[in-house]
Amino acid sequence: MDAPSVIRTKRDRGELTDGQIDWVIDAYTRGEVADEQMSALAMAILLNGMNLREIGRWTDAMIRSGERMDFSALGVPTADKHSTGGVGDKITLPLAPLVAACGAAVPQLSGRGLGHTGGTLDKLESIPGWRALLSNDEMMTVLRDTGAVICAAGDGLAPADKKLYALRDVTGTVEAIPLIASSIMSKKIAEGTGALVLDVKVGSGAFMKNIADARELARTMVGLGTNAGVNTVALLTDMSVPLGLTAGNALEVRESVEVLAGGGPADVVELTLALAREMLDAAGVHGKDPADALRDGSAMDHWRRMIAAQGGNPDAALPVAKEQHQVVAASSGVLTELDAYAVGVCAWRLGAGRARKEDPVQAGAGVEIHAKPGATVTAGQPLLTLHTDTPERFDYAMEALAGGIRIAEPGTAFTPKPIVLDRIA
Ligand code: URA
Repeated sequence: MDAPSVIRTKRDRGELTDGQIDWVIDAYTRGEVADEQMSALAMAILLNGMNLREIGRWTDAMIRSGERMDFSALGVPTADKHSTGGVGDKITLPLAPLVAACGAAVPQLSGRGLGHTGGTLDKLESIPGWRALLSNDEMMTVLRDTGAVICAAGDGLAPADKKLYALRDVTGTVEAIPLIASSIMSKKIAEGTGALVLDVKVGSGAFMKNIADARELARTMVGLGTNAGVNTVALLTDMSVPLGLTAGNALEVRESVEVLAGGGPADVVELTLALAREMLDAAGVHGKDPADALRDGSAMDHWRRMIAAQGGNPDAALPVAKEQHQVVAASSGVLTELDAYAVGVCAWRLGAGRARKEDPVQAGAGVEIHAKPGATVTAGQPLLTLHTDTPERFDYAMEALAGGIRIAEPGTAFTPKPIVLDRIA
């Protein structure tokens, strides 16, 4: 087998054989296939696609490139959630302890933010002392003791994907549905969860800008999970507006704690409960209603134990940015648009996100939202508060908001989009 012939097959719109796929993934992981050869193949896949058999085999080959985790010794059904990423998407933080409080174990391997979408690990790292890096044994101990663990994926999990994802990031080949689906699902299947709920985001702040692409991605991932014996369901959810009232690391932790305390913004609570119910159903756990676990404090108890088990102090004050700047309404009327992508880029430019994997993030940076679409606003009223430690970023961050905020005539009718747009099982 040789790389040029595999590349030519896909370049000429052919189907890759199982043997070609197994060979190219294994040889790339070992360094025998060069980055430039894999880049050419990834571009050929982006342009010409793969059928379901090819995607399944590609996923399986990436799983076989590393270790598989196994939580069966816990003796408790396991459920995990994966979001394709959005602005203000802090849902994993309240969701993992909430589902644990309802009786399923949640082994949640999460990532860091890149670009305008935030990363769960960056958010949790704003809690003083909290550690994202755990050994497999530590992960099992936290899961056994607290019912939920959120940590970074170890180097041994789907190493082919780690290498390929970094390559796709710099070669314009991220946005290929077969490659996104196989990348996400190889990690989730290798992680060994029994049930998986996918939150596939749709809209300006998401990877998938339209519902047709999101549906195709969701169907592909649900098919891969189901074929691998993981009970998999997908919700398609709106990401045209930021979720909740905050985008930024410590700001989102604060909002998540409000949800766990029985409060928090209605959209965050609604999506957290919808995903929790799906996770519990998929895991076959039917003891407790998640809404009760938010009300009775049991989800909060699990959160506190989970944070403490990873070195964090759940009572410590969260970092606050040194400088704030308010963005006010330019006119009076009805706020009809607060674009998720614009707010995400604004938060990123304030220092909440990173441009390169090795960049640090500011824990306190981000955007606080005072009015969501549908609100009646008056000229001069604060719409957003921008937070950063480096005030020279304010002008550049505000440029990202141009065209992203729209205020219509007073009395203009406004119908909010539902949060959950579709369900695919
Ligand atoms: N997240 C992943 O893990 N992989 C992708 O390809 C895209 C998003």
